[in-house]
This record gives sequence, C-alpha cells and structure tokens, in this order.
Amino acid sequence: MKNFISRRNFLIKTTGAGASALAVPLLSGFAFQDKAKPGIKPVIITSHTNETGQKAMETGWEILRTGGSAVDAVEKAANIIELDPEDTSVGYGGLPNERGVVQLDASFMDGKTYSAGAVACLENIKTPASVARLVMQRTDHVLLVGAGALEFAKAWGFPEENLLTEKARKIWLRWKEEMSSSDDWGSPEHLQNLSKNESYRHDFPDIEHHYGTTNVLAIDNNGDIAGCTTTSGLSFKLNGRVGDSPIIGAGLYVDNEVGAAGATGRGEDVIKSCASYYMVLRMKDGRTPQQACQDALQMIVDRYKKVNPGYYPSEKFVAINKYGELGCAIMRGNRNPQMSVRSDKGYSRYDGTVAFPGK
Ligand code: GLY
Repeated sequence: MKNFISRRNFLIKTTGAGASALAVPLLSGFAFQDKAKPGIKPVIITSHTNETGQKAMETGWEILRTGGSAVDAVEKAANIIELDPEDTSVGYGGLPNERGVVQLDASFMDGKTYSAGAVACLENIKTPASVARLVMQRTDHVLLVGAGALEFAKAWGFPEENLLTEKARKIWLRWKEEMSSSDDWGSPEHLQNLSKNESYRHDFPDIEHHYGTTNVLAIDNNGDIAGCTTTSGLSFKLNGRVGDSPIIGAGLYVDNEVGAAGATGRGEDVIKSCASYYMVLRMKDGRTPQQACQDALQMIVDRYKKVNPGYYPSEKFVAINKYGELGCAIMRGNRNPQMSVRSDKGYSRYDGTVAFPGK
C-alpha cells in the first residue's frame, strides 16, 4: 500500500500522465523550452532501423526537444512502430500465434521512480506500450496478462480492433499449410535444429526473423531515463506463450543512476539470463554500453557451454548510459547490427558489433 500511495503522489505531481497515454501524438502543442541541464543531452534510440523506426525517432525527438519527458517520448515513439501495419514483428500487423491470433507483449519502465508496467498476451489492442505505461502509472501492479490486460485496456478506453492484417494472415496460413518443421512442438533436438528453409519465407522475404521486437530508450532534458519494449512475440508461438519483452529485467531495464537496456531476439534465453538487468549492472560496474551488450551475449553463451556447446541463440541487445553513450550488439551473423538514434545532431544509425561472427 505504501508504494501505491507514493506512486499516486508521483502521478499528481506529474500532471495526468495517464490521460495523455491515450492521446494521439499531438506534437504541435509543445512550446520550445531550452531547459537542458549542463552536461545532459537528450537522446532517443530504437532497435528499429527502417523508415518507421526513423519516423518514430522524429516523433520522440520532437517531444524531448520541446522539454517533454522521456516517458512521453518513449511511448509516442513506440506507438508509431506498433501502428505500422507492414511491420510483422510489433503491434498491429504482427505475426500471430499458432492459432492465428495476434497476442502482444510490452513493458514500460521509468528510471526515475523504478516504476514498471507490462502486459502480456494482450489481444485486440493496437498499442500495448500505452497499456503497459498505464499499468505502470495507474495500478500498483507490474504485469497484467490475457483477458485481464484486455479488460484493463478497455476500461481505459482503448478500442478493441482486429490486429491480424491480410499480410500477416497469409503468412500464417502459408505456415500452417506446411505445418512447418520450425514450430514450437517437438523434442529439444528438433528445437535446436530449426529449419531455415521454410517456403513461406521465400514467399514473404521481408520477414527477417521470428522474434522481431522493438526497444525504445530515451533520456530527457532533466536526465530522466525511460524505456519500452514492445512486440508481437515469437511468430506461430503456442497460445499463451509469453516472451522476454514484458518481463522487467529480461526484455527491459531502466535505472536513472546508470542507464537503460533492452533486448530483442529469442526471448526464452533472455528471460533465463535476465539480460537487460545484467547489462545495466555491467554499466554500473563501469562497462560502456557497448561492452555491456557484448558481456550479456557472452554470458548467455557461457551458460550453455556445458550443456549445449555451440548454441548461439539469436539475440540483439541495445543499451544507453546516463551520459548518452550507446551500445548495440548481436549474437551472430555477418553484418554489424544497427540502431536508430535521434539527438540534437540529427538522425543517425549507430553501428554495433557481432559478438560471435560467423556462427
Ligand atoms: N523477444 C521477443 C520474444 O521472444 O517474444
């Protein structure tokens, strides 16, 4: 009850943040105020590097530039990505579970208050990031799932909508027709040798991977840090499967005193390694964000060394410290990963590192 009261007090001080979570982005209403503290440079990043990721960064940056909070910037930026119907990994248009139902996961964290909120297996709501923010700011809980999460969202006025786009439905149907050898039913051996030759991938070559997700992290003019991770989760997952994205410490962690970190990729291993919390702890120990991302990937591989040598689950991590230094690393592959960055220097793509090239 004590936490609940203090969070309510925080809400009163921060003037109706919950209600703004429901608003459509309204950037023109902000007046420019240069109230940056010396040494604090606002910045916003996302793991999404496509056109929508860039648009999301411009939306978030406009909020930061005009003195808005990191919490607002992160939410509105995440919403842009969630609402893109062409994106099969996040929000509306995300690939469904094995039954053809889109179930979304999202988390939100405010590094100033250590408040966190999340939703899992949320159906029919296009912007789970906003619902997660409301869980954070308007309840004394952290995680709402399934029917309860939907009931909560509806209570706050979110409309129920069909999230399954024609594109996503066709991909799902194609997968179902094949009864792909890469579904989630099977022995551990089967799951370790997921086929890379599913023909629906040939028909829909823009699907990059099954675990697409987005992280948005920001620092505002006051040096306050916030973050959000939002996803449609593993495509064709078992009904009710929850990934790392809504698990605080796994898919997201934010600490004003240190920085923030987020994960995309195979959620199961991220949950078991508490990867985002680990990255923040590494930064607290003096590691740069780039080193922290690398350290977390190394830690995951080290854990499997005895039981499953040579296992390099596909993960991409991003991190930022309170000084605005950046990090981004991917487990394997031949191309350096990137993330989108928007600051007073404009929009850019940050080049990260591959932890285990050629694996
Ligand atoms: N990282 C997203 C998921 O595993 O659901």
